[in-house]
Amino acid sequence: MAILCMLWVGLVLLGVVQTQAQGQDSVQPNFQQDKFLGRWFSVGLASNSSWFREKKNVLSMCKSVVTPSEDGGLNLTSTFLRKNQCETRIMLLQPAGGPGYYNYHSPRWGSTHSVSVVETNYKEYALLYSEGIQGPGQDFRMATLYSRTQTLKAELKKKFTSFCKAQGFTEDSIVFLPQPDKCINEQE
Ligand SMILES: *[C@@H]1O[C@H](CO)[C@@H](O)[C@H](O)[C@H]1NC(C)=O
Ligand SMILES: *[C@@H]1O[C@H](CO)[C@@H](O)[C@H](O)[C@H]1NC(C)=O
Repeated sequence: MAILCMLWVGLVLLGVVQTQAQGQDSVQPNFQQDKFLGRWFSVGLASNSSWFREKKNVLSMCKSVVTPSEDGGLNLTSTFLRKNQCETRIMLLQPAGGPGYYNYHSPRWGSTHSVSVVETNYKEYALLYSEGIQGPGQDFRMATLYSRTQTLKAELKKKFTSFCKAQGFTEDSIVFLPQPDKCINEQE
């Protein structure tokens, strides 16, 4: 969920959310999926959906391990703390018309979300953007900051904040997530 792990968390918290959709089409130029693989932490998040406003202060970081899936897309295995338990969920992102563009279909909610890697240097961070494109949650919009490490440099926070503002998110809809006290050890 966030995005991907967080996208998943969002869908779990509330299947249907109300925000206004806005098209977002850019993607990291020459995106190289193989360099995007491996472990990421979702450390920053922005969404102006109502579930997010309610839950943003109880969310914590989650860990996603990204592997290639058979259809050329991505398999995100995410671990996060929920109700004081570690949970693991798998999300399969299908390729969607070009490197860096994916779709996620939630069988549970009957919704489809687009997920794009807007910018990444592969080694430190990735900026992702997601929105609902079909079914419930169609108005869902979310920006996620992925980091290779749990601790964030100030410049990365600034980068994410300006990215979110450029996407139309207000300052108070941006959060940097705390590390949970279990589930996602840096060493694992
Ligand atoms: C996704 O990755 C997990 C962890 O590596 C694996 O257990 C699972 O079988 C994979 N699922 C698919 C459909 O590739
Ligand atoms: C969410 O953001 C969009 C784009 O900035 C805006 O048009 C919409 O009104 C916002 N929705 C809410 C519930 O604040």
